[in-house]
Amino acid sequence: VQRGTTSAELAADLARGHTLPAEWYCDPGRLRLEQERIFARSWQYAGRADKVRRPGDVFATRAGHIPIAVVRDEHGSLRAFVNVCRHRGHEVVAGEGNRRTLQCPYHAWTYGLDGCLRAAPRSDREPGFSMEELSLLPVAVDTWGPFVFVNPGSQASPLAETLGELPEIVAGSGLRLDELEHDTRREWALESNWKVVVENYLECYHCPVAHPSFADVLNVDEDEYRLEVREWVCSQRTGLRRTVLDGGGGPYDGRGEVREAQYHFVWPNLTINVGPGSPNLSVDVWWPDGPQRTAGFTDYFFGRDVPQATRDAIMAFSARVALEDAALVASVQRGLGSGMLARGRLLLGSERLIARFQELVLRALA
Ligand code: FES
Ligand SMILES: [Fe+2]
Repeated sequence: VQRGTTSAELAADLARGHTLPAEWYCDPGRLRLEQERIFARSWQYAGRADKVRRPGDVFATRAGHIPIAVVRDEHGSLRAFVNVCRHRGHEVVAGEGNRRTLQCPYHAWTYGLDGCLRAAPRSDREPGFSMEELSLLPVAVDTWGPFVFVNPGSQASPLAETLGELPEIVAGSGLRLDELEHDTRREWALESNWKVVVENYLECYHCPVAHPSFADVLNVDEDEYRLEVREWVCSQRTGLRRTVLDGGGGPYDGRGEVREAQYHFVWPNLTINVGPGSPNLSVDVWWPDGPQRTAGFTDYFFGRDVPQATRDAIMAFSARVALEDAALVASVQRGLGSGMLARGRLLLGSERLIARFQELVLRALA
C-alpha cells in the first residue's frame, strides 16, 4: 500500500484486515489533525462528579490537549469552560477546590463562576475595553452516574448519543454506579502513540500470551469472550474461570453480586472496566502526549462496603496487567517507527474491535 492512498482505498483496506498506515502512529502532522478533528469535538471523561457537588466547587482537567475547568456555579448548575485566560492564555484554574471566583494567577483577571469576566486590573484606563467580549469559552458538560464528561466542540450532540446502550449494559452486570466511591487515581506515561494504547485494549487475543495471570482468572477463550461493536462503544465481556468460581485464585470473589467482567471502550479515549465479584470499576483516560507518547490515568472506584484488602488486591492485579501492557505498546511503537512495516494485518475475528476503531479514526480524519 502506497503513501497518498485515498480514504476510500484506506477504508477498503481496513475491511480486508489491513491496519492504518504505520506512519499515522508516528507523525506530528497526523496528531495535529487528530487533535483538531477528534479531541476538539468529542465527549471525554473529565473527572468525578463528587468533586463538583457544592456551589463553587471547581477542578481543572483536559479534553485531549485542551485545558478545561469544570465548575458548580452559585445556582447549582454544572458548567465547563476552556481553561484558558482570555488575556494571554494562562490556565485560569489549577488543581481543584472551592472558589467564589476564578482568578487567573498571571495578571489577576477574575471571572465569575458563570465564566463572565468581572475584573481586569487597569482595564478601566483602556478605552474600548469590553469585559462582555472576554468571557471564558463555555464547553458542553454532562454527567453519567459518578462521571463528568465534557465536549469542547461547538456542535456537541448529547452525551447520551455517545454512550448509547452503555448505561444499561453496565447496569446489567449487577453493578450500581450510584453506590460506588472513588478510591485512588493512578497516573501513567506510556511510550507509544495513543492509538496503539487503545488498540491494545480492544483485543484479548494477546491475553493468554502476554497476561498469564489475567488469563488464569478470566475466561479469555475465543468462544467465551464476547466482542460487541456499537456506534461509539466497543465492548468485551466474559466471566470468571470455573476454577475461580469454585473458590480459587485471583482477586475477584466468585460469589459476589457482579456476574461478569466488562471492558468498554468509549470513543475516542476512554476505557471502562467492570470487574466481577464485589462492586469494582475503573476508568482509564488516554491523552496523546506528542505522537509517540501517551499520558493517562486510572480512577478506581469500589462499592462502599468493599474492604480495603479486597480493593488493594484488585488494584494490584489491574496494575500488573497495565505494566505488562505498557511494555507491549512501547515495543509496538518501536516496530511502527522502524519504517519496516507499512501496514499490519488484523484478524477480523478476534481483532474486529480494532478494525472498528480504525474505521472511526479514518472517518473522523477524512
Ligand atoms: S493571562 Fe490571565 S490574567 Fe494575564
Ligand atoms: Fe493487555
